[in-house]
Amino acid sequence: MSILVVKFGGSVLTSESALQRAVAEIYRYVRDAHKVIAVVSAFKGQTDQLLRLAGSYTQASVSSATPHLVATGEMRAATLLAMAAERSGIVTRFRSAYEIGLIADGEHLNANPVSIKADVLTRDLETVDLVVVPGYVAENAAGEPVLLGRGGSDLTAVYIAKALNDAGVKATARLIKDVDAVYDADPATVGDSAKPYEGLSWTEALKIAFPVVQGKAMRYAADNGLTVEVAGLAKGYQTVLGGQTAYRKTSPLKRPIRIAVMGAGGVGSKFLERCLEWSDLIEVDRILVRDASKRRDHPLAAKFTSDARNFVRNDVDVFVDIGTGVSPSAELLEGFLKAGVSVTSANKQAVAASADKLRAAAKSSGALLTYSASVGGGAPIIEALKRAAAAGHKVTSLAGVLNGTSNFVIDQVESGKSFDTAMDEARRLGFAEPDSTADLDGTDVGAKLKLLREIAFPGQSPKHIEVGQITEDSLVIPQGKGLRYVARAYPTADGLQGSMKLEVLDADHYLVGARGEQNRAIIELDTGETWYVTGKGAGAWPTSESLLADTLQIARDMPLK
Ligand code: NDP
Ligand code: HSE
Repeated sequence: MSILVVKFGGSVLTSESALQRAVAEIYRYVRDAHKVIAVVSAFKGQTDQLLRLAGSYTQASVSSATPHLVATGEMRAATLLAMAAERSGIVTRFRSAYEIGLIADGEHLNANPVSIKADVLTRDLETVDLVVVPGYVAENAAGEPVLLGRGGSDLTAVYIAKALNDAGVKATARLIKDVDAVYDADPATVGDSAKPYEGLSWTEALKIAFPVVQGKAMRYAADNGLTVEVAGLAKGYQTVLGGQTAYRKTSPLKRPIRIAVMGAGGVGSKFLERCLEWSDLIEVDRILVRDASKRRDHPLAAKFTSDARNFVRNDVDVFVDIGTGVSPSAELLEGFLKAGVSVTSANKQAVAASADKLRAAAKSSGALLTYSASVGGGAPIIEALKRAAAAGHKVTSLAGVLNGTSNFVIDQVESGKSFDTAMDEARRLGFAEPDSTADLDGTDVGAKLKLLREIAFPGQSPKHIEVGQITEDSLVIPQGKGLRYVARAYPTADGLQGSMKLEVLDADHYLVGARGEQNRAIIELDTGETWYVTGKGAGAWPTSESLLADTLQIARDMPLK
C-alpha cells in the first residue's frame, strides 16, 4: 500500500466553494491507485476569527474552552471535505483526532505530537480509498484538546507520514499550497524573477521555506530524516524538501488550458460549473449544444453555439465530449484528434462505435485520446486496466458491475420499491441514459464492456457475447443471496468469452457490495494478483470528476502550444 498524506490548508480552502478543488486533487491520486489521508485545516481566515472571538471573551487569561472553539474550524472543513469526496464517489472515512489517538504535549495552543494510533489509519485504508482527518488538533495525555501551533496542520501531515513509515507502511507527506513550489523569492512581490526549486536540502529549506511551510513541521521532518513535498493543486511537479537543492528546469504553465465542450445536459452542466471553479486553470472557449438559444441565463451564455460544422478548430488544447449518441460526437472526436487536439469523452456509444478510427487519428497527430468517464463514471476501471498493461501484466479475467442505473434499481426493488418508481428515481437523479432502455437491455453495458476488453485483451474479440435483459420480472433475489447485472470477459483456449446478464451471487461477493449507483470491477492478473476497483458509476458529480481529471491530466502530459 502506498499512502499519500495530503494536507489542504486555508490558502487552498479559501471557502466552502473551494472544497471540490481539493476533491479533484484527491481523486487524481485515488485513480492512480494511491490511498490518501487528507489532513484538513480550517477555511481561510477562520482560525484567526475564532482566536479573536475566544480572545474577546477571555481577554488576557487562558480558557480551557479555547482549543475546543478553535478546533471547530478544522472540524467543519474536514467533515465537509469528507462529504464532498463521498458525493464524487470516493470511498471515504472521516476520523477525528481523538479516533486516531493523536496525542500531543506542551502548551494548549502550541503542543507537539508524541503518539498516534497509525494502525487505525492503515486498517481503514484496507477498505476505503480516503481517510479525512482534521489537522492542527490533538489531545493531551489528560484527554483535553490541544492545538499544534499556527500552521499546525503541516505538522499533523508530516507526523502521520512519519508514524506510518515507522509502522512499515510507505507514506509521503504532500503539502498543497497556493503556490506551485517553494521559490527563492515571493512571486507575489517579485513576479517572474522568482525561481522555483525542484528540491531543497533541509538546511536550505529551514532558511527559505518558512512561512510557506510551518517551521515546527520542517524541523520535525528534518530531525527524523523525512522528505516532504510542497505542491500546488493539479500540478505535475513539486518542491521536495529534504532532497538536493536545485532549481526546477521546466517552466510552469503560464496560461489556462483552453477547452471546447460538447453537451450541457445533466453531466455537462455540472462539468461546466466545475470549470468555473477552476477558472485559473481552465478556460472554456466554446460549448456545442443542440439549442444554444436556451442558454441565455447561463454564466457562460456567450460561449454556447449550435454550429457543429465549424466547431472543430485547433485553437483549443482539449475537446471534452459530453454529448449523447454516436453522431456527431464520433465525427467531432475524430476531427479534433486529427487536428492535434487531445480529447476526453463520457460518451461510450460514440467512442465504442469508432474506437479504431479514433486511435488511428490520435496516433497520426500525437494527440491524446482519453475516455475515463465513459466506463464506470467515477470508478477508475480504465485507469486500472491501463496500469496493468503498462506494468506488463496480462489480464486473465475481468468482471464488473458497469451500469449505475440498473444497480440502483436492483437495490431499490430489494428494499421494497416498485420497479417503475425505482426507474423514475434513477432518471430524476440523472443516472439514466436519455433513453433509459439502454440501461436495461445491455446497450449501455455492451459499449462499456467493449471499451474495457479492448484495453484488457487487445486484438481479441469474442465470437459471441451472451446478453441478458433486466425486466421487472427478472429481479427475483433468492433469500441470503445478491443479484447483480455482471459483465464478464475472459480468454479461453477457444478465444475470448464474454457475457453480460443478471447473476445470483453470494451476499458477501465483492460485486454485491456495489450499492446503489456504484460500479465495481474485479481484475484478475497473470501475476496471481486480483485488483478491485470501486466508485460511483453514474451521476453528474462523479462523472464530471472523471472528465475533469482527464482534462487536467492532459494538461500535465501535453506541452501546451
Ligand atoms: P443529457 O441528455 O442530459 O445531455 C446531452 C447534451 O448533449 C445536451 O446538452 C445536448 O444539447 C447535447 N447534444 C446532444 N446531441 C447533440 C447534437 N446532435 N448536437 C449538439 N449537442 C447535442 O445527457 P447526460 O448529460 O446525462 O449524458 C451525457 C453523456 O455522458 C452521455 O453520452 C452519457 O452516456 C454519458 N454519461 C452519463 C453519465 C450519467 O451519470 N448521466 C455517466 C457517465 C457517462 P441540448 O441541451 O441543447 O439538448
Ligand atoms: N446510464 C449510465 C449508468 C450512466 O447508469 O451507468 C453512466 O455511464
